[in-house]
Parts: sequence; structure tokens; C-alpha cells
Amino acid sequence: MNPTSQKNACVFGLGWGDEGKGKAVDLLSSAFDVVVRFNGGANAGHTVRVGVETFALHLLPTGSLHENVTAVIGPGVVVDPIMLLSEIDSLAKRGFDLTGRLKISDRAHIVQAYHKLEDQLSERAASDEAKIGTTSRGIGPCYADKMKRTTAVRFSDLLYEDNLDDRVRRIVSDRKTSLGALYSSDVELDPNAVLADLETAKVRLGGFVCDTTNFLHEAMDEGRSVLFEGANGMLLDVDHGTYPFVTSSSTGPHGIGPGAGVPVSRVDLLIGTIKAYATRVGSGPFVSELKDEIGDRIRERGKEFGTTTGRPRRCGWFDAVLGRYTARLSGATDLALMHLDTLSGLDPVGICVAYRIDGNTYSTPPADTGLLERAEPVIEFVPGWNEDLRSVRSLEDMPHAARTYIERIESLVGAPVSIAGVGPERSQTFVRGRIAELIRQPEPTTT
Ligand code: IMP
Repeated sequence: MNPTSQKNACVFGLGWGDEGKGKAVDLLSSAFDVVVRFNGGANAGHTVRVGVETFALHLLPTGSLHENVTAVIGPGVVVDPIMLLSEIDSLAKRGFDLTGRLKISDRAHIVQAYHKLEDQLSERAASDEAKIGTTSRGIGPCYADKMKRTTAVRFSDLLYEDNLDDRVRRIVSDRKTSLGALYSSDVELDPNAVLADLETAKVRLGGFVCDTTNFLHEAMDEGRSVLFEGANGMLLDVDHGTYPFVTSSSTGPHGIGPGAGVPVSRVDLLIGTIKAYATRVGSGPFVSELKDEIGDRIRERGKEFGTTTGRPRRCGWFDAVLGRYTARLSGATDLALMHLDTLSGLDPVGICVAYRIDGNTYSTPPADTGLLERAEPVIEFVPGWNEDLRSVRSLEDMPHAARTYIERIESLVGAPVSIAGVGPERSQTFVRGRIAELIRQPEPTTT
């Protein structure tokens, strides 16, 4: 295949989120005409540094920062309109105007105040073992309403449904009763406040709402290139992740079909983003977790604190059992291996290559949480490196040990590392292979 004929790409996470997808997307998006979010909602947090400025985006695609790119929020995203408005306003204050280049699907569902309330109440009521550790952004309850159908509100309803006010009043009243019965006797839910939020959404976001599915197909037919931006990560996927400690959407390229209305066969490059070590926020099994000073050191050096919730992230060695599993499931054609610089100074560096559970060896993760909780990691240690990697710009310039580490990950996971992250700046990333042919290398940073 001629690499320059590649047109559409998907960047997604192979881990439990926070893999550095925002940076990979930001690096690539200048080579694309359209950037699309297709899953999740404001639970995602993408941090991008441009010069001295840091941007934390939750709902807007990261590509929104490039002024020639059209940003699309697809049908599979659950949108909190008030949060989206505050993101739009804060970007506008910093000189990024989205007028005319943001499109929100009329099929996308709306996250309401009662979804967030339900998220918080259900987490609060759950036992310690059952808590999912959600981001409290109402994601699960909104997707549950979507599946239930009669209690869902989409952007098209906002614009066209004649009796939306009456229906919303009924939904709020029913929800007040059911949440009150389930969690406590006095649930505060004001239907007028919910309707006021919807009115604000209609007035301020209505102009962005359209049939994004048709827009994307027409754009692709005209030869415009599209970058699909996965949120969260494959290990949080509702079907394939470490269930039930997952989010409620399809987080990999398989989510593009339902979440954007585009068949994945139209996407040429599937770029699985993964960190050089593992992190997780929230609850759930984490076999290669380091609950010692090495884990603390990775957290401090890698600044591993949540973009959305500020929670410290749990840290551990690279888990090749999971990396191979999610790369296989997603069909990752390329890897973006991020945060290599964070491992400098650790010697040796561990890689989890298998699990031992009840005397058996596993090369792929079992579905059962109990089995995963009991798993012992089989760690392969490889030599570490002391050099600061932040000025390295090619694989050839890497210290020998770092290069060997990258090659070991490629062989264990089964895909080539085409993007490598060696620092937080846009420029501290190098690209090789066909992805290098697709984009120009970033300009050196001025900071
Ligand atoms: P929810 O998506 O808020 O329902 O949270 C479900 C689980 O997914 C929790 O463990 C969250 O911490 C985790 N989660 C959701 N989105 C992200 C993300 O973008 N990065 C990391 N963890 C996430």
C-alpha cells in the first residue's frame, strides 16, 4: 500500500485511558481536515501543551485547537451541554474561535443534571469493592437512558420535539422518585433548572447541531481526510475491558461505526496509544501495579494525576498481556508509545509478560474480576537507562537500552512503534514510518 494514499486515521487508547492520546492527536491533526469524537463524554480529559499554554479538553476534539480543522462530536458521544459551552467559551477567551467549524450530531445524547446526580449517588451508596470510581460526569446513567430509549433526550429533540418540556418534566419527576427510593429520601432535582439548561443548550449550541454522519460521508467522498479520536481506552471498553470497572461506551475503532456512522473499513491507520508503563484511575484489577516507591516515582515524574478529576493515578510496569490483547482486538496498525522519558533513571525496567493465576499461566486476560485480582505478574526485567530522553528526536539517537525496550514492546504487542513520546511538549515526540510520511515533523518548541 502506498503510505501517502492513507487518508483516514483513528487514534485511540490501548490502556485504561490517559495514554497521551491528546498529544498524538494534536500532533497529527494538522494533516487532517476533520477531527471526530465518537464515544464517551466529559469523562475524557486530553491535555495538550501548545507553547507555554496548557489546554485540558474534555468534550471538544483535540483537533479543535487547529484553526483549519472541522471538529465533530458524533452520535455516539454523550454531551453535557453546559460543560461543552464552558469549554467553547474558555477556548474563545484564548483566541480559538469555533464558529463555523464545530459540528454536533443531532443524534448525540444529552447528559442532564439528574445523570450526574445518579452517578454520584450510586457510587456513594456502593460498597468499597463495588465502587467503579467513575468521573461523576453522568456517563453511565446517560448511556443507560439511551438504551432505555423513552427517557433519553437527543440534540434533535431539543430542536424539533414539540412536547419536550412536558416529557422532561415527567422524566425529572420519575427520576426524583426512583433516586429518592434507591438512595435517600430527599433528592434535590428541579425540573425548571433542567429545562433552563436545555434552553441554554438550544440557544447557544443549536447553531452547531447538524447531521454529522452525512457531513462526514460527504467530506470523505470529496477527498477530505478524517481523524477519529477515541476517548478513554480499550481496557475501559464496555464489552472488552476489565468489566465491570469500565466506562459505558465502545472505546476503540470498533466504536467508530456506531459512534460516528462511518464503517471502520474506511479508516486506514489505527494508531493505538499506550504509555511506556501502565496507569489506571478508579477501581478495578491492575496486575502489574507498583504499590511501592517505584510506583510513586513514576507518578511524580510522569505527573500522573487525573485531568478530569485530579485523582492520583495508580502506576505499574508495562503490561504486555493487556497491550497484546487490546492491540489484537482493535487491529492496531501502529503504536504511539508515550512517556518514555518518565522511565529514565529506573534500572532495571520491568515488563509484565504473563499472569500466574491459581498455578496456571495466562497470556491473555481472563474475564473474571476475581481471577484478575488474584493474578501475579510474571515480570521480565530489561536494562534501564539514565539519559534524559527529552531532546531525542529519532529512534537511532535513543540510548541503546531505551531502543531495546521499544523493540521488545513492539515484538510483545505485535505492532510497530510509529510515534514515540519523550516529553510533554508538542515537539518532544518523534514520528517514523508511514506516519512520518503522512505529517510534517512538528516545529521545534519556542519554550
Ligand atoms: P465513567 O466513564 O465516569 O463512568 O467512569 C468509569 C471508569 O472509567 C472509572 O474507573 C473512571 O476513572 C474511568 N475513566 C473514564 N474515562 C477515563 C479517561 O478518559 N481516563 C482514565 N480513566 C477514565
